[in-house]
Amino acid sequence: MSAAANPIAESLLAFWADAGVDAMLLDEPLDRIAAGRIAPPAPAARKVAAAAAPAPSPGRPAQPDVSAVVAQARTLAAQAETLEALSAAIAGFDGCPLRFDGAASQAVVWRGDAAAPLMVIGEGPGQDEDRQGQPFVGRAGQLLDKMLAAAGLSGRVMITNTVFWRPPGNRTPTPAEQAVCAPFVERAIALVQPRMLLLVGGASAKAMLNKDEGILSMRGRWHEWRSADGAMELPALPTLHPAFLLRQPAAKKRAWADLLTLTERLDRPERPAP
Ligand code: URA
Repeated sequence: MSAAANPIAESLLAFWADAGVDAMLLDEPLDRIAAGRIAPPAPAARKVAAAAAPAPSPGRPAQPDVSAVVAQARTLAAQAETLEALSAAIAGFDGCPLRFDGAASQAVVWRGDAAAPLMVIGEGPGQDEDRQGQPFVGRAGQLLDKMLAAAGLSGRVMITNTVFWRPPGNRTPTPAEQAVCAPFVERAIALVQPRMLLLVGGASAKAMLNKDEGILSMRGRWHEWRSADGAMELPALPTLHPAFLLRQPAAKKRAWADLLTLTERLDRPERPAP
């Protein structure tokens, strides 16, 4: 029976899609062939699958090691003198596997004020962002916008993510996926020149700060972000992800406290140099 013929199934599927779930996975892998539930593929089909496995789509290049791809990303990013050029460089970059695995459409780069004093860095685009080509435009993004507006930060932020393509099924981006996108994130920071960073969610905070702590212990405290070459340093505040706040509304007060910590520093008059 199709979901459309069953209003309860249709509404349940809409609920999960709204939450960003578009793939059904079990906690543990299940070998359905060994379990006898499906017949092993015919030899011809196996040959096609094996040929397709390392390079699932025809345009997908074989993946060299991560450090070579990071170096390539760094060269491309350094050549971009403007955000537009950087966005074009990202769109043409095929070193991030997410481009082939997760994203249905385009690279999702950033939105906001190109000279913002605050840069907000999330984890990675979800389904709505993938469709619309802009970060944080789904339900979590709408909550983020409301919180930023309530804190007086509307129009004073640039919003981006640690990766520019949607991870399949909205899973957390891997450290390798984040590493190959990091040179572009760094270059965006260098071009925008914000005074501070708001790191939204554990995957963003861990990647940007190169720390292996949980978000609950990192949030609400100032950390120092450093570019890979050590040339740039900025204060960075980790906070809870709005998707988490949608599931745990009681945690909103902690995220609000983080925003107050942030605005207190952002709006503090800078002392003139002695
Ligand atoms: N979650 C993120 O971390 N980033 C987005 O752009 C959307 C949802």
